[in-house]
Amino acid sequence: MNYKIALIPGDGIGPEIVREATKVLDKIGELHGHSFSYTEVLMGGISIDKTGVPLTEEALNTAKASDSVLLGAVGGNVGQSNWYTLPPNLRPEAGLLAIRKGLNLYANIRPAVLFDELKGACPLKDELIEGGFDFVVMRELTGGLYFGERHTTTENGIRKATDTLTYDEVEIRRIAKWAFEIARKRNKKVCSVDKANVLDSSRLWRNVVKEVAKEYEDVELSDMLVDNCAMQLVKDPKQFDVILTENMFGDILSDEASMVTGSIGMLASASLGDTKLGLYEPSHGSAPDIAGQNKANPIATILSVAMMLRYSFDLEVEADKIEAAIKSVLQKGYRTIDIMSEGKTLVGTIEMGDLIVNELV
Ligand code: NAD
Ligand code: IPM
Ligand code: MN
Repeated sequence: MNYKIALIPGDGIGPEIVREATKVLDKIGELHGHSFSYTEVLMGGISIDKTGVPLTEEALNTAKASDSVLLGAVGGNVGQSNWYTLPPNLRPEAGLLAIRKGLNLYANIRPAVLFDELKGACPLKDELIEGGFDFVVMRELTGGLYFGERHTTTENGIRKATDTLTYDEVEIRRIAKWAFEIARKRNKKVCSVDKANVLDSSRLWRNVVKEVAKEYEDVELSDMLVDNCAMQLVKDPKQFDVILTENMFGDILSDEASMVTGSIGMLASASLGDTKLGLYEPSHGSAPDIAGQNKANPIATILSVAMMLRYSFDLEVEADKIEAAIKSVLQKGYRTIDIMSEGKTLVGTIEMGDLIVNELV
């Protein structure tokens, strides 16, 4: 079977990590008789440089016509790059928001798994991570503050900026259903995270999630305030199975979750909606500080490819194989700089990709 993949290398380390991920896909294809064809799509800063906008209509249509999308990262050095002198809707990140919205990818799954081999890279004390942990952050991706009305004005010489946070019950219900469905296949626990002690949108969130929970009596639901959740993630990450939360909270909590797995370079993500077409990307950004130096960890992107095989193409065996290959390379002691610890062997982006490809048989 041939799968059409829209490939978005993007900016910074994006092209470096995507290259390693497609090497892995090609090897899996060879081994299992699938072919993956790639159509490169411009998005982010590179698209601004070439077309004047971060995502053209044509680029979005190419993504829509594909079976799935693989993205590296977009954006540059926010303080320094010229891209950030442009109006907000023409900056690199606007392309990312436009593709998520344009493909209606409202469910963002970010799995935080502590590989046994990476306990040394986890900043938490040994007793807190005994036995490892494995949870997912289910982040709502097309609503909330990211897509609310915003404007900046000056009134009586005082500058004022406004962002608005809106959710309706349809948006909450559909992401809650995703969370319960995923929990059903895992440890059957959903922790819904909000700020219901302050925000109306969170109070609606909590009520709607409770209503959805009635359809999933086999899944245990709890609620937690977001500030407490930020604390609990480093106090006792093992307590979580599925964390369900809105867009901005999920953005912040998933970066925090990534660090307890050892590095942001390990956190994969899948963005899904109501069809099989998904967008797969690491949770991290374009890492301008290490771009072009063969230092970036490609594992989050390679794990995202495994999620693509699982969620978009139903290729479970192949996805398991990729995850096992990563584990095996880590077991052998190979590390990129972000997960390096004493006694391990330091490798670059390309070498890490090659090592993983070589484990696939
Ligand atoms: P970042 O995630 O790019 O980098 C944060 C830190 O983590 C840096 O020190 C970086 O070197 C390190 N890091 C990130 N990925 C790594 C990897 N694979 N291997 C090793 N180290 C890694 O976040 P930032 O610096 O805040 O943002 C840089 C740019 O990326 C901004 O323009 C931001 O908007 C954009 N961004 C894009 C995405 C995306 O495309 N999905 C996500 C987050 C940030
Ligand atoms: C992410 C990123 C994006 C987000 C930015 C670049 C718009 O941080 O994918 O986590 O906030 O969603
Ligand atoms: Mn983020």
